Amino acid sequence: MQNDKLSGQFAADVDAGLKSSPKKIPSRYFYDSTGSQLFKQITQLPEYYLTKCEEEIILDNSPRIVGIISVNFPESINLIEFGAGDTEKPFPLITQILAAQLSLTYTAIDISDTALSDLSFRVLEKFPDLKFQGLNQEYFEALNSVKIGNNSRNLVLFLGSNIGNFKHNQSIDFLDQMRKSLNPGDYLLIGFDLKKDNSILIPAYDDASGITREFNINLLKRINRDLGGNFNINNFYHSAIYNDTSGAMESYLISKCVQNIYIEKLNQTCTFLAGERIHTESSHKYDLNDIDYLAEASGFKILESFLDSRKYFACSLWQAK
Ligand SMILES: C[S@@+](CC[C@H](N)C(=O)[O-])C[C@H]1O[C@@H](n2cnc3c(N)ncnc32)[C@H](O)[C@@H]1O
Repeated sequence: MQNDKLSGQFAADVDAGLKSSPKKIPSRYFYDSTGSQLFKQITQLPEYYLTKCEEEIILDNSPRIVGIISVNFPESINLIEFGAGDTEKPFPLITQILAAQLSLTYTAIDISDTALSDLSFRVLEKFPDLKFQGLNQEYFEALNSVKIGNNSRNLVLFLGSNIGNFKHNQSIDFLDQMRKSLNPGDYLLIGFDLKKDNSILIPAYDDASGITREFNINLLKRINRDLGGNFNINNFYHSAIYNDTSGAMESYLISKCVQNIYIEKLNQTCTFLAGERIHTESSHKYDLNDIDYLAEASGFKILESFLDSRKYFACSLWQAK
């Protein structure tokens, strides 16, 4: 069941976003049941290098990461993952922690109840004795409610370059709040998509088989379904561009013609001009200096950053000061 608070917030955010200029809808609303399944397909696309790179990094470096985090606190680990989705990325870490005979609890937080129930099935299939819980909450809400262990070492995962969906000031705010909710000495393993050539970046957000287009267009289908909208999806197209100034891949839905859209639950009619855009996502890209800056500004110390063999992606292990 979808968290009611999240459903109410969807209506409020669509209302505000379609009244704003330029129009926008926050990217977290991609992840209804269809969107979560489409995202899973995206992770398997040849163009979507992010997942493959991060999986390679975690698989290759789990022994080292677990070696670092178990020093001085060898008995129990409280693993907390923000925006977990339905991915097996943390499995090599879990395997390594259990092999080191440490006691482990795993809490996965996600706005998508579909992603959480699929993840829960996979976790319990692979690790039947693991203490697992899914929290269907938004990141900031979860920061206030997630249980931080005082008698165990907390390790937070924030993978998939989810941090890239925040604007720079929001990312510092979120990481700072996260650090304040942890105990000094706790750890964060955070994934960053690194800056690279547009010839690699753009296809990752606009693939040849059209799954990223479907993923973006699904936002309009979700408004039709959940809020009684009458978007004709054939009157919009998907666009992904790299914005050099903000250092982010940006996704848009662009109106092909002048059109009026009525949204019943908002009792709102919204007019689009031909060529008018709805901003649906920014995915910021980083270099190692940006990562240093973010860690410093949010009160973490970088212990080590791990890169994949192509140097497309970084997983950085931080410690709360
Ligand atoms: C890009 S996917 C990444 C999933 C996974 N961590 C990975 O690396 O493949 C982002 C995930 O974060 C969740 N998410 C996005 N915004 C969120 C928010 N504000 N609060 C909680 N979960 C969020 C989505 O539902 C989705 O499952």
